[in-house]
Amino acid sequence: MMIERYYWSINDVISSEAMLLAVEAQMHTLVAEVDDEAVTQLFVTLKGGKRLRAKLVLKIAGMTPQSVLLAAIVELIHAASLLHDDVIDEATLRRGVASVNATEGSKRAIMLGDILYSKAFSALTGFESAIAKCVADAVTALSKGEMQDVLMAQRFNDDADAYLRMLYLKTASLIEAAARSSALLVGKAAEPYALYGKNLGLSFQIIDDILDVVSDEVTLGKPALSDYAEGKCTLPYIYLYEALDEEQKKRLHALHGQTPSASDALWIKQEMLSYSAIERAYTFAAQLSNEAKEAVDDPTLHQVLDAMMERRF
Ligand code: FPP
Ligand code: MG
Repeated sequence: MMIERYYWSINDVISSEAMLLAVEAQMHTLVAEVDDEAVTQLFVTLKGGKRLRAKLVLKIAGMTPQSVLLAAIVELIHAASLLHDDVIDEATLRRGVASVNATEGSKRAIMLGDILYSKAFSALTGFESAIAKCVADAVTALSKGEMQDVLMAQRFNDDADAYLRMLYLKTASLIEAAARSSALLVGKAAEPYALYGKNLGLSFQIIDDILDVVSDEVTLGKPALSDYAEGKCTLPYIYLYEALDEEQKKRLHALHGQTPSASDALWIKQEMLSYSAIERAYTFAAQLSNEAKEAVDDPTLHQVLDAMMERRF
């Protein structure tokens, strides 16, 4: 009881940035336990990112040694998935700096990903089986999602439901697991938090898709307008395609998987605006966000959704 009260008072007085420092320290401890200087040196070069998943764990489970460890595990898994994703996407930029595959080569990027991922799993075995299984299942889901993403990018897709199923697996599953496992950790009802996490993850990725069209490289920390060139028919493109006439449909279809010329890029952006494709995708993300708010009555979790919906990078 005393310990519980002590943690509650910590949660009340320290900012989420300060709480995240504890997660960063825990991640470094786990990596140091790998006991390999080259691994540690490469790990410290990774940029941290928004740490959305860690924030979620700490907001749901409060700050305890166990919740900090769970948050660190989820962030290590996420970091591993991005290392592998950049190899798969042949990406040269991540979070505004050169990707590990670009500077160190794909072999080292893959191996660092494997080390972070397996170390996270080893730490996960210390948790009760429902928590461990929930996070482990999410990694199977996100790997399945990545495979579907790669396969779907090989041909033009105008099926919004198939796209959303893939997004759920690739991005929302780990965020859902972060929310569900942290609720389980503190004995809260898991389902409402899982629904919150799932919808947060889906709307997060849809906002990502929108930013790829409307933002620029400096703001994004990665090249803009690259999704469709990489073959990814994201929600704004699916909605645009639906609204275009036959001639325009052919033009958009022909640009799939190509780096657009400046005039094609301008055409895409203009048509997105005139057919309200961006607006429609944003409205859909906002609906998911509102559904998440209805699931969990917690003002700080509502603020996470609002900040995510308003984000510019
Ligand atoms: C980013 O998508 C990618 C993911 C969210 C998941 C990637 C998953 C794997 C590579 C499976 C392997 C997993 C582990 C744990 C080793 P994106 O390419 O659409 O986003 P981006 O623009 O940020 O790259
Ligand atoms: Mg990628």
